[in-house]
Amino acid sequence: MSERFYVTTPIYYVNARPHLGHAYTTLVADVVNRFHRMCGQETCFLTGTDEHGDKVVRAAKEEGLSPLAYVNQISELFRNLWPQLDIAFNYFIRTTDPAHGKVVREVLQKIYDAGDIYFSEYEGAYCFGCERFYTERELVGGRCPDHRTIPEVIKESNYFFRMSRYQDWLVDYIHTHPDFITPVRYRNEVLGFLREPLEDLCISRPKSRLQWGITLPFDDQYVTYVWFDALLNYVSALGYPAGEGFKKFWPTVHHLVAKDILKPHGIYWPIMLKAAGIPLYRGLHVHGYWNVDEGKMSKSLGNVVDPLELKSVYGADAFRYFLLREMVFGLDSNFSERALVQRINSDLANDLGNLYSRSLTMVHKYFKGIVPKSEGAPESSLDLDVQLDASKALEEYQKAMEGFAFHKALIALWEFINRINKYIDITAPWELAKKKAQHTQLRLVLYNVLESLRMIAGLVYPFMPKTAQVMQEHLGMTFADGFQTFGDLKVWGKTRPGTKLPKTVTLFPRIDLREEQTKGGETVSAKEGPAPEKPEISMKIFQQVDLRVATVLAAEPIPRSRSLLKLKVDTGEERTIVAGIAESYRPEELLGKQVVIVANLKPVKLMGVLSQGMLLTAADETSCALVTLDGPSEPGTPLA
Ligand code: ME8
Repeated sequence: MSERFYVTTPIYYVNARPHLGHAYTTLVADVVNRFHRMCGQETCFLTGTDEHGDKVVRAAKEEGLSPLAYVNQISELFRNLWPQLDIAFNYFIRTTDPAHGKVVREVLQKIYDAGDIYFSEYEGAYCFGCERFYTERELVGGRCPDHRTIPEVIKESNYFFRMSRYQDWLVDYIHTHPDFITPVRYRNEVLGFLREPLEDLCISRPKSRLQWGITLPFDDQYVTYVWFDALLNYVSALGYPAGEGFKKFWPTVHHLVAKDILKPHGIYWPIMLKAAGIPLYRGLHVHGYWNVDEGKMSKSLGNVVDPLELKSVYGADAFRYFLLREMVFGLDSNFSERALVQRINSDLANDLGNLYSRSLTMVHKYFKGIVPKSEGAPESSLDLDVQLDASKALEEYQKAMEGFAFHKALIALWEFINRINKYIDITAPWELAKKKAQHTQLRLVLYNVLESLRMIAGLVYPFMPKTAQVMQEHLGMTFADGFQTFGDLKVWGKTRPGTKLPKTVTLFPRIDLREEQTKGGETVSAKEGPAPEKPEISMKIFQQVDLRVATVLAAEPIPRSRSLLKLKVDTGEERTIVAGIAESYRPEELLGKQVVIVANLKPVKLMGVLSQGMLLTAADETSCALVTLDGPSEPGTPLA
């Protein structure tokens, strides 16, 4: 492993707001970055925004803004989102940064001087939606594969990058560097593209058609177009050619992208680097697509998943864990909020959370919260196996992380978590605690468990940094930068006996079905499959439900939520209720309505608003109707 590590995400277009897909790649970069820092490497993590082009000009016009005012706004949305997901990038690049423009012009001039850029007239099928020419082969039934429109044939003089010259060299390079593009399916896909003759790349647009871009250094009537501008961000951000960052971190660089931009990164970029005399990147790591309800996420379908909304309901760590655990890096994955809730309950609350709280509760109960000494007890093979399993888990985790197989790293870690849960079940510390003679054994068992938890907290860190911090603090450890090094994790016995541990906390509360149904404004379980069967209950239990008449005093939508409304109601006293009825009722329709609420439901926070009760509705998958009264009634009247 080299001493330095540089990881990048694509720079995102500013014509759309950040969504789940952008969050995933950026989260992966953060996890990778944190892991490599744990391994003792000096790291750099770059992300940013891609801000030139026609689409941006159009989007700005629609908003009545200048292109610059518009890109400033959207770029800020991206930049501000990442810290909220605990993503700690080192540098945020924008293609409108003057320093970036300078690098683009320098590299263009260099390649132009070397004779790899030429001027020529081109006639071809142009899709205005994609802002690009298509070759006959790329069209599907004569139509743009994305927009399904018939492209217009246009003739234009432009500058071209002579990629064809480098085709054989690139094929050879990929064959001799098996880790250059991973997973292997994408390496094969690139080799597949390269089996066809490579066409030269059009890199300019005349200013008569597009102004919002970087002017070519050798022709001020043209701006450079798309990839020559965007791809160079990876070096301009480091201060290429003379900057310290560039000297330090290039070429130990790993690019993360989804499959949509495989070709520019797997073909154009290595050839651009070669032509400019810049060493090639170390690795391109390509992941699949997040789909929603088995289909593409798209604005027009209204199924774009907002990462902030999920974070505000489930917390950043659970969201991070879910995305990294659920997607097999390289393959497509389907997003559903139900699956997220299931993982929180099973993996986080049950497996990890239970292990953590039962272990620490025992240390507090049997040893007043003081880490016991393990010496003096005979170690059975069961005890020794804990250490063996720990080093096996570490090894598998490390191998998987280095190979960008995050789900495998988490599987290895969870196998270990469950192994320790079993160790506790078999050794039954609560039985050992009953007899004084077995206390030496009890100390050994609980020490082993605490050491295992220390290791688990360390390995959890890249994925769930906040949880790792809480776990470590409650295991009596503090770290200036929040993490243990991988070296620390490889040494067994670092937990110091005699340390007084703070009181335990719950890491991940279970999300019960009722909350699950309204979390994030989605009727998660109602949507998918029949409602669970309800048991017969006694009158006594039913009478515990406090149903009351409430008059709606005020109603307003909750920002960033499709289906939630915030209501102020009068039940003899004023209270706030968050209700998932926005898709069936407009706020103004509700004013003055008398509804029925469950008044003694445990308050719960939804989208950051504390809901003190629940409205009764008759709801199915498509609509919901409020339960109302036949005649006026005093607010707060109980229902008999
Ligand atoms: O392509 N699933 O920007 P972009 C997973 N500016 N990842 C997704 C996704 C999904 N459904 N949708 C988007 C551009 N992504 C160029 C890049 S780089 C020099 C220039 C993520 O805003 C994924 O990382 O369209 C994908 O590659 C990227 O967003 C595309 O972002």
